[in-house]
Amino acid sequence: MHIAQGRVDETYINGWRAARIDCPSALIPAPGQYLLAQALNQANAPIPAPVYLAASSPKGFYAANPYPVAWHPGTTLALKGPLGHGFSMPPAARKVLLASWSQSPGRVLALLEACRRQKAEIVWISATPLEQIPLSVEILPPAALPQAAQWADYAALDIPHSQLGQTFTNPLWLDAQPFLAGYAQIFLETPVSCGGIAECGVCAVRAQQGLRLACKDGPVFNLSEIVNVPR
Ligand code: FES
Repeated sequence: MHIAQGRVDETYINGWRAARIDCPSALIPAPGQYLLAQALNQANAPIPAPVYLAASSPKGFYAANPYPVAWHPGTTLALKGPLGHGFSMPPAARKVLLASWSQSPGRVLALLEACRRQKAEIVWISATPLEQIPLSVEILPPAALPQAAQWADYAALDIPHSQLGQTFTNPLWLDAQPFLAGYAQIFLETPVSCGGIAECGVCAVRAQQGLRLACKDGPVFNLSEIVNVPR
């Protein structure tokens, strides 16, 4: 883990990239990992904000939405990280399903660059229409989840922890689940207030083997750790 200062270089109102942050390369999180960040002019703010990768940039990285509204171009940030376990897409994956049910599709779309490097075909599923998706990405509606799950050889999913119950009982999900066995990874959105340092437990998630801390055991888990996926 590294601690250093960064600077908000630019912010964006729309799209899945919220801001461009300049920082030392050692701090750049991998897809699914996070930094804990605090604006220096808000040093009294009690809780640092998590910042996730959306894409790389020459001097740092693009941060995914959501993003603290008080941060503007020029804001200096105290940064700590990278923290947690991110996505680990197999180098052999050639058919990649990316899907997000969260307000932060950039956390999963951060894998686009790795997909491009290994020449993988990409399918994107989201309930919310998005602009600025590369033309090479096939965009499908949520109803296509079972077919896409059958086609893919790797899937990166982003589901808020609070929505797991309703997602896992959705008929579309139940149809897709047998195919997702063995290859899907899931980003579980929880608060990550202390980053595991104070063991506050606010990020606890129920897994097959008991409680896990999303801040340091995740936030990305193998799907089979979280649900009993039929094989
Ligand atoms: S955020 Fe405190 S233990 Fe995970």
